[in-house]
Amino acid sequence: MDNIPTETSFFRDFQVFEALRQSIFPELLRRHRLDRTLNLWCAACSSGQEAYSLAILLRDYFPLLANEWNLTILASDVSEAMLAKARSGTYTDLEVRRRLPPKFLRRYFQKQGSQWSVSDDIRLMVQFRQIDLLKPLPSLPEMDVILLRNVLIYFDRAIQAEILDKMHRVLAPDGYLLLGATETPLRCDTVFKPVSVDRTVLFQLRPPDDADGGRSRHTGN
Ligand SMILES: C[S@@+](CC[C@H](N)C(=O)[O-])C[C@H]1O[C@@H](n2cnc3c(N)ncnc32)[C@H](O)[C@@H]1O
Repeated sequence: MDNIPTETSFFRDFQVFEALRQSIFPELLRRHRLDRTLNLWCAACSSGQEAYSLAILLRDYFPLLANEWNLTILASDVSEAMLAKARSGTYTDLEVRRRLPPKFLRRYFQKQGSQWSVSDDIRLMVQFRQIDLLKPLPSLPEMDVILLRNVLIYFDRAIQAEILDKMHRVLAPDGYLLLGATETPLRCDTVFKPVSVDRTVLFQLRPPDDADGGRSRHTGN
């Protein structure tokens, strides 16, 4: 999609990553403590900063998960050019200074000339793959967390509904879907229920017998 912006950054909408760190990942770790398997998907990853932010967060705050679990961080985009940059893990000074906490820059990046390269242990945590959300999805594992941020807004309602339907089929029964900050009003609340966690709105599958409008699990404001 040549006309869709590829704008992104590390830890974009920091509050989202705080909700993942403080609530969502601890809950998923408890729930998956026996199978020790966790599948995460950045479904429109652009040049990779979103997926590397997840990897950094997990490596830094949940090192056991990064080292001893079957952790999959799949990052996909339709654009091969964006995927090539993402795979290289190399960013300009401006890109790393934008929202990346300095402690993470020190710990997980090396300066190479005028560029910064993400360290191999972070880079190797992420699998990049081309997936066009407008086409049938390839076979994917059930996802515990899907980040589908800042891409739906560029499609019309019918296409949004089609893409959300695909997310519905691949999201684990207790998994979480995250949209972009400006996308939460999108009408995806017929099959997903909004859940407010630490002032971030996420979406979960709505059980067929959900009678209270899906708002019973609010933990934030
Ligand atoms: C604005 S960026 C969002 C990047 C990141 N998710 C974020 O929130 O920072 C939108 C991305 O969607 C990708 N995109 C556009 N159409 C797509 C499609 N049909 N399938 C997969 N990705 C697509 C673009 O290539 C671009 O990288």
